Amino acid sequence: MSSTSWVATALLLSSSCFYLFLLQGADGAAPAVQVGNISRVEDAQYFHIYYGQSFKVIKNSIDGKSYLLMQSNSRMASKAKYCTGRIKSFVIPLSNYSLDTSTPGLPVSFFELLGLLEGLKGITSDSVTSGCALRSLSSGSTVMVNKTDAPLLKQFTAHFVSIVDEERACNYAAFMPMQEITPLQVVKSNYLCLTNMAANQTARFKPVVAWVEYNKGIWSFAKESYKQQLVTDAGGENVDDSIASNSYVVSNPDDMDNFHAILCTIDVVIDQTSAPAPGQYTLSTFMENVDVSDNSCFVFLTNQSLWRYDKRVRASASGGQAVDWFDGAISQPQLVLADLIEAFFPTGNYTTTFLRNLAKGEEVAEVGSETCERSSSAPLEPTIVPCQ
Ligand SMILES: *[C@@H]1O[C@H](CO)[C@@H](O)[C@H](O)[C@H]1NC(C)=O
Ligand SMILES: *[C@@H]1O[C@H](CO)[C@@H](O)[C@H](O)[C@H]1NC(C)=O
Ligand SMILES: *[C@@H]1O[C@H](CO)[C@@H](O)[C@H](O)[C@H]1NC(C)=O
Ligand SMILES: *[C@@H]1O[C@H](CO)[C@@H](O)[C@H](O)[C@H]1NC(C)=O
Ligand SMILES: *[C@@H]1O[C@H](CO)[C@@H](O)[C@H](O)[C@H]1NC(C)=O
Ligand SMILES: *[C@@H]1O[C@H](CO)[C@@H](O)[C@H](O)[C@H]1NC(C)=O
Repeated sequence: MSSTSWVATALLLSSSCFYLFLLQGADGAAPAVQVGNISRVEDAQYFHIYYGQSFKVIKNSIDGKSYLLMQSNSRMASKAKYCTGRIKSFVIPLSNYSLDTSTPGLPVSFFELLGLLEGLKGITSDSVTSGCALRSLSSGSTVMVNKTDAPLLKQFTAHFVSIVDEERACNYAAFMPMQEITPLQVVKSNYLCLTNMAANQTARFKPVVAWVEYNKGIWSFAKESYKQQLVTDAGGENVDDSIASNSYVVSNPDDMDNFHAILCTIDVVIDQTSAPAPGQYTLSTFMENVDVSDNSCFVFLTNQSLWRYDKRVRASASGGQAVDWFDGAISQPQLVLADLIEAFFPTGNYTTTFLRNLAKGEEVAEVGSETCERSSSAPLEPTIVPCQ
């Protein structure tokens, strides 16, 4: 597997490859030098790999550290151990690992795509949207660990975290796929095919799309560049960048007049307002938050094109709700693109994965251990969306 250059969604990453190396071990079998298949990093932004004969070094520019991965059967592995400010060493393949799932930004789905769920022995929160990880948890193969219990966390060969500015034990390794802009190669061709297909749409005008958000009495438009890129790739057009104001106070009539007017020009709305209980966020919640007396000009309502990205959720024992948009969607961006294409150019023929149609009253789908349909040692096969 190698990671390659990419269009541009910050959703995507290359760091996954890092894990492939760290967890699966080096290619070939030392000490007799046998060169197996060498993976190359073609142009990931944040990590580089250098190969030695029985080791490799991954340089991670996000945390500024180098990870030295030594093959378990090499002389080096039996002798060397590094744990300095800039270098950490790991013997590979790892016998086990744990994930800090209580901090946002550590998708389990990458480990699943790599077929490494069996080695997952600890998680710090059951707030995960992977049915198979939840099954491992209920079977006891994976256990819950207290994230502040340092001696306990030390027992894992590697503990993956998504925060880099904290003091870290020797077995900690950073995994921050949100930061990277390169996807898994296996899904890249599918993503590009879908982009071409979307570009071939013959609509006279591209649908105008807005990601909106309501927070403490204020509406705003989300402008992250990866979202804008996704809209463009799916054949849509982003709500005019020239709109100067991006803060509409509901209690201010002038603000709401402006917001109302802009909404009247939008064909597709994605409401990303955070909701403690996504299942209870319905069309009427949106209408209450928008609070306009006359919504007859809202094409996205008459045309039933009001969406949210919280279709796949998991209510955790600790009371929180995890949303798969922040996990599965990051490792399979082609599915996000396919959802958006269906939202922009509805066929009624495609079941979306992450987006649910609020205007049509579509409900959330709960992820649970019963939704896991494969053995823990089997990799999750990426879903390839039909595309000519
Ligand atoms: C190396 O790559 C070839 C072709 O892609 C594949 O058939 C083979 O199984 C790979 N070998 C290893 C050790 O991964
Ligand atoms: C986790 O461990 C810390 C100290 O190590 C303790 O104070 C805290 O109560 C523990 N939390 C849980 C949920 O057990
Ligand atoms: C992880 O593997 C190491 C090395 O094999 C072992 O010493 C340790 O007990 C294992 N930890 C867990 C939690 O399984
Ligand atoms: C898009 O249109 C071009 C030119 O008409 C055609 O060659 C290409 O196959 C189409 N691609 C898809 C994915 O439909
Ligand atoms: C409603 O959506 C369809 C595409 O599904 C589009 O052709 C039509 O123009 C839209 N209606 C309006 C009023 O924008
Ligand atoms: C629906 O999907 C089927 C199978 O993929 C395809 O043959 C058919 O043309 C599609 N219909 C529409 C309206 O896109």
